[in-house]
Amino acid sequence: MIQLAERVRRGVADIQPYTPGLTDDELKHKYGLSRVVKLNANENALGPSPRALEAIRQELATLHHYPDGGSDLLRRAIAEFHGVEPENVLAGNGSDDLIKLLSETFLEEEDEIVVPFPSFSQYAFGAQVMRAKVVSVPLRPDFSYDVEAMAAAVSPRTKLVYVCSPNNPTGNVLTQTQAEWLLSRLPERVILVMDLAYNDYSQNPHRVMENARLLADPRVVCLHTFSKLYGLAGLRVGYGIAHPDLWGYVNRVREPFNVNRVGQRAAAAALGDEEHRDRSRRHAADSRAFYERALVETGIPFTPPEGNFILVRTGDGRATTQALMERGIMVRAGFAGLDAYVRITFGLPDENELCVEALKQVCRR
Ligand SMILES: Cc1ncc(COP(=O)(O)O)c(C=O)c1O
Repeated sequence: MIQLAERVRRGVADIQPYTPGLTDDELKHKYGLSRVVKLNANENALGPSPRALEAIRQELATLHHYPDGGSDLLRRAIAEFHGVEPENVLAGNGSDDLIKLLSETFLEEEDEIVVPFPSFSQYAFGAQVMRAKVVSVPLRPDFSYDVEAMAAAVSPRTKLVYVCSPNNPTGNVLTQTQAEWLLSRLPERVILVMDLAYNDYSQNPHRVMENARLLADPRVVCLHTFSKLYGLAGLRVGYGIAHPDLWGYVNRVREPFNVNRVGQRAAAAALGDEEHRDRSRRHAADSRAFYERALVETGIPFTPPEGNFILVRTGDGRATTQALMERGIMVRAGFAGLDAYVRITFGLPDENELCVEALKQVCRR
């Protein structure tokens, strides 16, 4: 018997594999449900853009060909959309891919990354794979960013500082002022990665936006995804905007065909679908208003949401998730440091109503 434990690269055995929850089919089977409402992955309840669906149909006949390795058509569309050059854009197999690529490009053993806590788990995952150290800086008790503490956590070994705005799972934004202040305090050698996966949903006028001043700074990387607002999570397409020199290094570790053909075409089409984008934003704003009103009425505390999800304090997040699951509603709990909370993704209006009704029953118990 081969002793695999002794052969795997140091640190690999310490990584906890990602464990996805039950699928909707598994849940239906387990609890004998006829309907499952999926509010656990911050997906777009409205589905993909019709233009993306048409592009997908057109692309199907060419699937015997490899994709364009440089995602050129998509990168040009993104560059035009953001008012930057195509060389500023790198496309990834989801923004997860870009986080891993940044980790592989910059981090080695004993290097450090600074991350807000709690926040999106993939930043720490990327560092762990490279055996770099994760320095977590707690958000303030109201979940706002403590940028002073983040700047103070930077050491001579720090390579990457991550911020996520609106933050997953807490929903709060980093403000423009905080972003600029943080950047002004970071040494020249430190890269600031701003994950803006949910930024298009926020209506907060103070939220950080990637303006020309930020993008002119060679230390800034902005990450975006087609998985949320554009409703294409299943196709795995994300992108980053940064200085071309930075991508020049990342490109050396990138897989040659990291974004599939269908994803490239669909994402480019979705970017041109202003109607779908507006509808998705309106849906999030309406859902936000619905949950805020309903939860205030029932006295269940929540944090003001800025993305397409809401963090609700039920007392025991795992127990709430289990009780909702038995009623056919999938939400998410188990975030480090947030045992008392569940995160609920905005669904269609009737799904949101079902969720609130179930929440009332569960919390009353
Ligand atoms: C903050 C944040 N960044 C990135 C991602 C990953 O997005 P993608 O589907 O593009 O890999 C997610 C997904 O949930 C997220 O919440």
